[in-house]
Amino acid sequence: MRSLVTSARHRKATDPIEFTDAPEPGRVHRRPNARSRRGPKGRGGGTWNWLPAPATYKATSVQLCGLWPFAGGSSRPVVGVPVGQDVRTGTTVCCDPFSWFKAGLISSPSMAVFGLQGFGKSSFAIRQILGLADRGVTPLIAGDLKGEYTGVINFLGGQVLRFGEGQRLNVLDPGAMVAAAHRLGGERGEQLRELAMNRSVTMVASLIQIMRRRRLEDWEHLLISRAVRLLLLQHANAPVPPTLPDLAHLLANPPAELIVATMVTTEEYPSFTAPLNRSLQALLEGPLGRTFSGQSTTRIDIDATAVSIDISPLQRQGEDVLSAVLVACWSETFATIEAANALSDGGLEAQRHFLTITDEMWRPMRLAGAGLVDQYDAITRLNRNDGVGNIFITHSPKDMESMGSAADNMKAKGFAERSGIVVTAALSRPDLRALSDIKPMSEDEMTAVSGWNTPDDWTQRTVRDPRTGEERPEPPPGAGKVLIKLGQRTGIQTQVKLTATELDLHDTNSRWVS
Ligand SMILES: Nc1ncnc2c1ncn2[C@@H]1O[C@H](COP(=O)(O)OP(=O)(O)OP(=O)(O)O)[C@@H](O)[C@H]1O
Ligand SMILES: [Mg+2]
Repeated sequence: MRSLVTSARHRKATDPIEFTDAPEPGRVHRRPNARSRRGPKGRGGGTWNWLPAPATYKATSVQLCGLWPFAGGSSRPVVGVPVGQDVRTGTTVCCDPFSWFKAGLISSPSMAVFGLQGFGKSSFAIRQILGLADRGVTPLIAGDLKGEYTGVINFLGGQVLRFGEGQRLNVLDPGAMVAAAHRLGGERGEQLRELAMNRSVTMVASLIQIMRRRRLEDWEHLLISRAVRLLLLQHANAPVPPTLPDLAHLLANPPAELIVATMVTTEEYPSFTAPLNRSLQALLEGPLGRTFSGQSTTRIDIDATAVSIDISPLQRQGEDVLSAVLVACWSETFATIEAANALSDGGLEAQRHFLTITDEMWRPMRLAGAGLVDQYDAITRLNRNDGVGNIFITHSPKDMESMGSAADNMKAKGFAERSGIVVTAALSRPDLRALSDIKPMSEDEMTAVSGWNTPDDWTQRTVRDPRTGEERPEPPPGAGKVLIKLGQRTGIQTQVKLTATELDLHDTNSRWVS
């Protein structure tokens, strides 16, 4: 075989192709087995610029034992949900926040996923959900902005709640927590009731803050706290919990103890509390009222195998509606976790583990002044203590620089800093540099990840859809390729391969299949 000169450095496109080590015309090699530094001399000899890649096979160590030392393994422990294949070595990559936490590889069961649109972040999260559900972990989607997790949650026999089409959520309904408090009784039951009251106070305060886009005054917070407690105690034995209109009525017609709390006279009370009453009224009569005024239409089932709160009908609503609903979803989700943990502490139920998924986080992080960053910050700091793992998904680390204040930006960066595992799908180089400030990445890693979304050539390729058997355009280059980073270790470049079932459950490109 004659070898081609591949270096085109000094050649023009019109130059004829040259061959190295080719015999000069008319010259015959007398010694056919003669060798040069570059291999056998003569026709077919010389340098090999292209070496054929040997065939690679994957097999168990039992099947491959006779082939040693040609078998290549990985020193990585095979711990966790199988997510794909190592792009470099071909070995199976296993990874999930629970197993890696239990194996002592990370200090908190948390994962942050970054990547440009459409490169498989949510699909990666679904692989985690399915893998972890198999290990008994309950997935909780605390606010699904696109409604894309409904398929997988239904598949797992879970509960899907939907907000935005007439469904309501009563933030004064202590729900699962009080039900658990009844079962527990005693001191632990009382503590849980107290927690449920605090949660309701926080929720009412958050809703007013979101609507006003600024924090409540100290006295307003105090007044809401007293009023909510009073209302919940009054309704302790009532068949239904109080609602926000009941709270507005109580604040407008206060008993003596509420007036005392404001430290003004009975005559001064109406004018003093007018701003708060106006805000509450505006909340009830504005777009938020449709979701938050009245009794809850459905509650999270504490025994569900999986839960998703689909808020996709609200996608195109204003920022205030969306942030209020998201805060309510998080609050409802964590109240359920709190109740489940209290039941297990009291020996009434087995300890359960939950995986919370917050996808499309770029959206709530842009809702300036709504206090969402604080809420989420508080949740993620406590996750480990509560037996909860979380997956935080957004497009770019720069989303964390888009908040209203520098303090909020810092808090948001903390989400990624605290994440035990950082997973990166295709991203631009400036985004990778920003991420590298939080989780250091090498130049090699950045070059690989930033190159994933560039096609090798202009060929239009199709693949056979495993579900329909029909040809459809191949996923974009880089789809399903992720870099899994654990601390300062070199990242694992992984190709996620979706199964037909996964594609059936979640295909955000389905509108493009003719
Ligand atoms: N590993 C993969 N192999 C082949 N196709 C994939 C893979 N991962 C995702 N896809 C396809 O790419 C499309 C986009 O995936 P997905 O919705 O998970 O991306 P995303 O990064 O979450 O997008 P967005 O930022 O818009 O939420 C889907 O149709 C999905 O089926
Ligand atoms: Mg997505």
